[in-house]
Amino acid sequence: MDAILIARGITKVFPGVRALDNVDFDLRAGEVHILVGENGAGKSTLAKCLLGAYVPEEGEIIFQGEKVRFTEAKDALEKGIAAVYQEFTLVPYLSVAQNIFLNREYRTRFGLIDKGRMEEEVRDILASLNCDYINVRSMVKRLSVAEQQMVEIAKALSFKPKAVVFDEPTSTLSEREISSLFEQIRKLRAAGIGIVYVSHRMQEFKRIGDRITVLRDGRRIGVIGVGDKSPEELVNMMVGRDISQVYHRSDSRRRGVALRTENISDRAGRVRGVSIQVQRGEIVGLAGLVGAGRSELARLLFGIDPIAGGELHVGDERIVRNNNSRRMVRKGMGMVSEDRKRQGLALKDSIAWNIMAVSLRKYFPRHLIDYKKMYRICGEYRQKYRIASPDVHRPCRLLSGGNQQKVVLAKWLSNDPDIIIFDEPTRGIDVGAKMEIYAMMDDLANQGKAILMISSELPEVIGMSDRIYVMHNGRITHEVGRGGDNWNQEDIGAMMLGIREGAAK
Ligand SMILES: Nc1ncnc2c1ncn2[C@@H]1O[C@H](COP(=O)(O)OP(=O)(O)OP(=O)(O)O)[C@@H](O)[C@H]1O
Ligand SMILES: [Mg+2]
Repeated sequence: MDAILIARGITKVFPGVRALDNVDFDLRAGEVHILVGENGAGKSTLAKCLLGAYVPEEGEIIFQGEKVRFTEAKDALEKGIAAVYQEFTLVPYLSVAQNIFLNREYRTRFGLIDKGRMEEEVRDILASLNCDYINVRSMVKRLSVAEQQMVEIAKALSFKPKAVVFDEPTSTLSEREISSLFEQIRKLRAAGIGIVYVSHRMQEFKRIGDRITVLRDGRRIGVIGVGDKSPEELVNMMVGRDISQVYHRSDSRRRGVALRTENISDRAGRVRGVSIQVQRGEIVGLAGLVGAGRSELARLLFGIDPIAGGELHVGDERIVRNNNSRRMVRKGMGMVSEDRKRQGLALKDSIAWNIMAVSLRKYFPRHLIDYKKMYRICGEYRQKYRIASPDVHRPCRLLSGGNQQKVVLAKWLSNDPDIIIFDEPTRGIDVGAKMEIYAMMDDLANQGKAILMISSELPEVIGMSDRIYVMHNGRITHEVGRGGDNWNQEDIGAMMLGIREGAAK
């Protein structure tokens, strides 16, 4: 098959980092070419060079046999290379249709904006993505993260591209949306469109991919066919060392209840009479589908949303109303949240200020900040979590997605909380870093911390938890203990879908 897009010898340097070092890449018409590698390996940077969002220092890009030199994303788009970026690019206060046709609105004969035609076209694209439930007139700000992601994808397709670059498109999607997306990608592939697909989710590669290019530290390690290597071999290519065991859970002692709810509900009816408890020294998993109410429960526990009924017990304190995050943080709670862009990080601020965001008072109780000490502490976290940045002064927006997630973790753990809620803690995080986070969680449990983990990756929940609550439609429907009869993916998966009877709790 012919390559439609070829990149040769691409080098891209940022201050202090060689993000890409003499990288070759080619994309054939009608293939899905997966880009993998650890956080900071250079995947997004390569994608952006192909798209003209970055101009590489060295190397050349050939598109459909013609050497091109894009200086901005618009150039690439005009030639037929579209992108779905890792970070959202939509304008929150415009409608879905307005966003998709931004700056290229259709006009009527009289020069007026032809809203009807645009809306119809957008409706068609959304329908092809099985997303007819998204109203083309809705303001983007009112859509869920997953819906926004689908709009991003619809926008890319509206340019009728010859090549599309997807940068971690599924990290915010539910299984149903992922299936629709894959169906759409298969259609694009069948139509001879080339697709670059960046992902950390190895289970997706076989489902959708044809070839895989592995990057490590800005260099290309190899190009292989999807079935050529076992998952272990692929991981070893990515991290450059042998990895045998992914999940690590040692036996830690239970040391009394740290967090307990009794019949707790929220106002929106997304959490309905939930009773759970988490002990010190225990990792409790919360399994469920997207929309089951897991994040909503976490928001109640952490005081982001008000409690509408029931009780929350933290340590020996009983909280019925007036739960707010500040109080929860004082009570020793921390939450690593799902949406790092919105809730987790101040992107303009440096790594150091983000790490210190909740723990500043703990380290400097008298409001006198010893900067040398502060930077030393943050430097230690940078090393411990292997945050890929030469120093801690860099603004977080310049970090790769996975490294931003590590900063969120450092921010909460630096405050030494007793109870930690992890909501999708490894989303967008590479295998190597995932294992570091698992080891860290295990360690925290051994220290006697109480951990509640929400995750959509069932192997992760089963691999790390001592106990799992299954949530469905706002209620806890099952509780399963490690090593018990139902301690496997099939059974717990069926419970999550609500097709397994259970003693509703
Ligand atoms: N605009 C920028 N300014 C400075 N450094 C940058 C910039 N963009 C990326 N980098 C650095 O370049 C390296 C590669 O980053 P890139 O975003 O390409 O990684 P990635 O492979 O996409 O990682 P992830 O899986 O975490 O998304 C990282 O060390 C990152 O910190
Ligand atoms: Mg990236």
